[in-house]
Amino acid sequence: MLSTLEKTEPKVADPDSLRTAYPTPEYAKNKHRSIKPEYLVVVGICSHLGCSPVEKFNAEGDPSLPGDWEGGFLCPCHGSTFDLAGRVFKNKPAPDNLEVPPHMYLSDSKILIGEDNKA
Ligand code: FES
Repeated sequence: MLSTLEKTEPKVADPDSLRTAYPTPEYAKNKHRSIKPEYLVVVGICSHLGCSPVEKFNAEGDPSLPGDWEGGFLCPCHGSTFDLAGRVFKNKPAPDNLEVPPHMYLSDSKILIGEDNKA
């Protein structure tokens, strides 16, 4: 899944999470947009009009996804698509990537969402 992010990078609108409508915390300004590459923490609200994107780990049986779909999230309301790091694809209604909320790991198996070390 992580290797797909290199393939989607040229197709997403803000690959480095530089837009500021939903500022990405510094610790998530990387290719996988997370502290730990294997875990993505994002708010499940589309940056267009607030619908809930759903996971689409493959395109099977979904004609609204392109043939080269690498997996990610689809907002069913107006068709915005996001890659597995929550980065919005170009030319979609959503203006921004999925928001990475403040969060931090309290241990290897415990995460606190809503606060980070900067609080
Ligand atoms: S609310 Fe997600 S595409 Fe419009």
